[in-house]
Amino acid sequence: MAPSRSCIAATLCALVAFASAASATTVEGTVQPAIPSGQFISLSMTIDDAKTTFELTGPDFSWFALGFDTETMFGYALIVEGTDGNRTVVEQNLLGIGNPGSPQPSQDISIISTVHDAANDLTTIVIERPNNTGDADDAVFSPSMTELEIIGAYDSFSSPSSPNGFLSFHGSQGRGFGTITFAVVPEPASMSHAVLAIALMLMGTKRCRDRG
Ligand code: HEM
Repeated sequence: MAPSRSCIAATLCALVAFASAASATTVEGTVQPAIPSGQFISLSMTIDDAKTTFELTGPDFSWFALGFDTETMFGYALIVEGTDGNRTVVEQNLLGIGNPGSPQPSQDISIISTVHDAANDLTTIVIERPNNTGDADDAVFSPSMTELEIIGAYDSFSSPSSPNGFLSFHGSQGRGFGTITFAVVPEPASMSHAVLAIALMLMGTKRCRDRG
């Protein structure tokens, strides 16, 4: 007997739900570049199908910066200036050792939050950006990434009693390297799609069985 229309419809719905469950991928990772002075600088990145979220933490008494997909002072970087909770962030392409370049003409980031942790002399800033901004100066991020080389820097000549919020030479103790490793995050949205897909399939199988 030919399968009924509702059998076919239920099977198609299940396939679509499965396909959308499979396509939604989010990865995340965290790294603390090893800074010779021992200063804590941390980067967390969450990359979904459309956007990248960066959580940057560094000293509240200094500018600090993170550079992406590099093992030296070169390429796409996010530079946080100011001190405490009064911060600005720019996209800037480092041009080589000793040459930090200048802020890009097109800024494609949004600051989501700035939290000043005075007790630990740290500031955390959350930033969002499309994975592919369309700006040739910007790195493109993707949830298919597995790892990225990262650099970090701050002014190692500054201190809580002698703050410096303006980009300047970090000193040999104030810059370092790390690798961020990404792992897939189980997404609530894709979980619910998967549950929906299974429910539709069970319904479809039952209906097809009932109709012979
Ligand atoms: C005014 C701004 C800056 C100046 C004048 C500057 C200057 C220098 C100089 C002279 C060196 C060689 C000495 C050393 O290794 O410490 C260097 C290296 C380095 N800088 Fe910068 N820098 C600046 C900004 C930055 C920023 C914003 C970052 C990170 C986002 C950074 C990351 C690095 C790294 C990772 C090295 C080591 C490179 C290597 O060994 O290949 N620098 N910088």
